[in-house]
Amino acid sequence: MILPKTVPLVQKPTTLHPLPRLSRALGGPELWIKRDDNTGLALGGNKARKLEYLLYDAVHGGYTDVITVGGIQSNHARMTAAAAASLGLRCHLVLRGSQREREGNLFLDHLFGARVHLLHPGEDREACMESLAAQLRQQGRRPYCIGVGGSNSLGSLGYVAAVQELHGQMEAPDMFSHTVVAVGSGGTYAGLWVGQTALHWSTHLQGIAVDQEEFEPIIREIAEDSAERFGTPLPNDETLHVDYGHIGEGYAKPSQAGMEAIHLFAQHEGILLDPVYTGKAAAGLIFMIRSGLLQQGQRVLFWHTGGAPALFAAVDTFEQTS
Ligand SMILES: Cc1ncc(COP(=O)(O)O)c(C=O)c1O
Repeated sequence: MILPKTVPLVQKPTTLHPLPRLSRALGGPELWIKRDDNTGLALGGNKARKLEYLLYDAVHGGYTDVITVGGIQSNHARMTAAAAASLGLRCHLVLRGSQREREGNLFLDHLFGARVHLLHPGEDREACMESLAAQLRQQGRRPYCIGVGGSNSLGSLGYVAAVQELHGQMEAPDMFSHTVVAVGSGGTYAGLWVGQTALHWSTHLQGIAVDQEEFEPIIREIAEDSAERFGTPLPNDETLHVDYGHIGEGYAKPSQAGMEAIHLFAQHEGILLDPVYTGKAAAGLIFMIRSGLLQQGQRVLFWHTGGAPALFAAVDTFEQTS
């Protein structure tokens, strides 16, 4: 498989290692983790892998600015701001939410020199990005627009490549009976799904949704576009698995099970999860163990996708629950 060129943003390979103390505490399968919380760019996370492809396109297409969208504590926005700074691109972030204090990711967005535009309630984020792009073009600049989460077919190639990377680390292609990963805008899962088919990776790829959106059509569309543009194989729908049972009260609203997962990973393994994405994905994993879907004798991979900077904007939530 020949993938398009990239700008180097990720320290590869990220580590793959077992979680012996957490596995013992949960009493189920042997748990392993792929540490994409340590991708190296601006406190790490999954978006760096997508940005390697997207920003190659921007830099080599002669663009001057990059615009992207997200929630007020978007990890994607923080990593885009950092990557843009490192490549000499001007970064604009269209964010939903109230500014309150510059904490967590929002603090870092400003530190990386991004220009932050806050959406008014009810305002459409894509429309706002387009009108900002039009204004910039009028000023003679060349804006490159990245949709939510960098989740298009080009960005998701980062996770096709990540499967290739994992193959170089696994003892055998069927080492993990299951792989669990957070689904927020679908691009990470789509890349893993396409990579799984391309490289005959034998695992049950379980996405855990962190938002109520219907993700299957989004993931399928990214995979279809990837097949058309980059000649990647089209996976079979029967292998697409997204669980919507761990969202709690909604996107970015911490759940009790997610908070328990954060404490378990921190106190048994010294690993940081976040309340929006990886805490809920880990809650899904823990649920699968406790309900007997995953058992002793299996090896299960948790694909960590980062997000810890958002912890620093959630200190109050932890104080209320401890
Ligand atoms: C920390 C973290 N994990 C997981 C995800 C979900 O990835 P994706 O948007 O590719 O589904 C995101 C982004 O939305 C994220 O920031």
